[in-house]
Amino acid sequence: MDLNDVIEQAISRTAPKWQSEADAAGASIHIKKDLDGIPLICGTPDELREVFTNLIFNAVDAMPEGGRIFFRSREVGKHIRLEMSDTGIGMSEETLRNCMEPFFTTKGKRGSGLGLAMSYGIIRRHGGSIETKSKPNKGTTFTIYLPVPEEVIEPADVEVEAKVDPLRVLVVDDHAAIREIVSAYLAEDRHTVETAADAREAMAKFRSDRFDLVITDRAMPEISGDELAASIKEMEPNKPVIMLTGFADLLTETGRRSENVDIIVSKPARLEDLRKAILKVVPKLKRRDSHLSAHSSSRPAAGSFFKRK
Ligand SMILES: Nc1ncnc2c1ncn2[C@@H]1O[C@H](COP(=O)(O)OP(=O)(O)O)[C@@H](O)[C@H]1O
Ligand SMILES: [Mg+2]
Repeated sequence: MDLNDVIEQAISRTAPKWQSEADAAGASIHIKKDLDGIPLICGTPDELREVFTNLIFNAVDAMPEGGRIFFRSREVGKHIRLEMSDTGIGMSEETLRNCMEPFFTTKGKRGSGLGLAMSYGIIRRHGGSIETKSKPNKGTTFTIYLPVPEEVIEPADVEVEAKVDPLRVLVVDDHAAIREIVSAYLAEDRHTVETAADAREAMAKFRSDRFDLVITDRAMPEISGDELAASIKEMEPNKPVIMLTGFADLLTETGRRSENVDIIVSKPARLEDLRKAILKVVPKLKRRDSHLSAHSSSRPAAGSFFKRK
């Protein structure tokens, strides 16, 4: 894949949202690009686009009065170096130290604190690294290094895509940000999503509507995801339930699996994690043809994903 394409897509797909917000606030945001002809790399475009989407929204958040975002890509030795800087409010030393931590946010209820944690995870899984430099009132620069494969590669003919027909999914989480992220991921695969902020609302929706799948958080105030799963299975024993568990759950967990849950996915869940889980739990008849599910692993072996010369 071509990293420059992914950056262009992230910019053009996010622009309608941040441009209208900036316009409404009377601020203007300019994007400058210096994207060199860089070699192709091995990677998952969806995931890397997600990284730049996060970085762009963070930069926009940091520039309430407008400013500039600058992208520069270069081949440096055996790596691609991608710098992205903004002229925003920058970070304090403490924020800079913690910004990659899951759930760390300085945005109060508006923030999820997951954007950079997810981005960091994605870059690491691509064999790369990410550095952050920031000065209060000066701005922030992220520098991402991604390895260039030794062998010459040709882009894959087909992107790995969803192998499941569109489903009706009920997403339950007490955090609005997580409901939004999971819904956005599912929408990308053309699933129809309803959300509920707690188990009570979830059961009400589950009773009055038809769903193919329930995705629920575990730790929720009042009624837990485990109890919700039990109620669902009581009504419909074959209804697949996917549970999302956070870091806190891992600490308190006794290693016991809930018998009412078909599969557990740890947060922050990536699109690929959800796809994998869904593929495992949805009834066979919902899957597409077998020639497609032959490529069903989230990260196919290089041989099947890329044609090598
Ligand atoms: N470009 C940036 N400029 C200033 N601060 C930033 C920037 N990007 C991230 N941050 C800081 O890092 C924190 C964590 O970012 P992130 O993980 O994306 O979560 P969120 O955006 O939901 O707060 C932000 O709350 C903010 O304090
Ligand atoms: Mg963010």
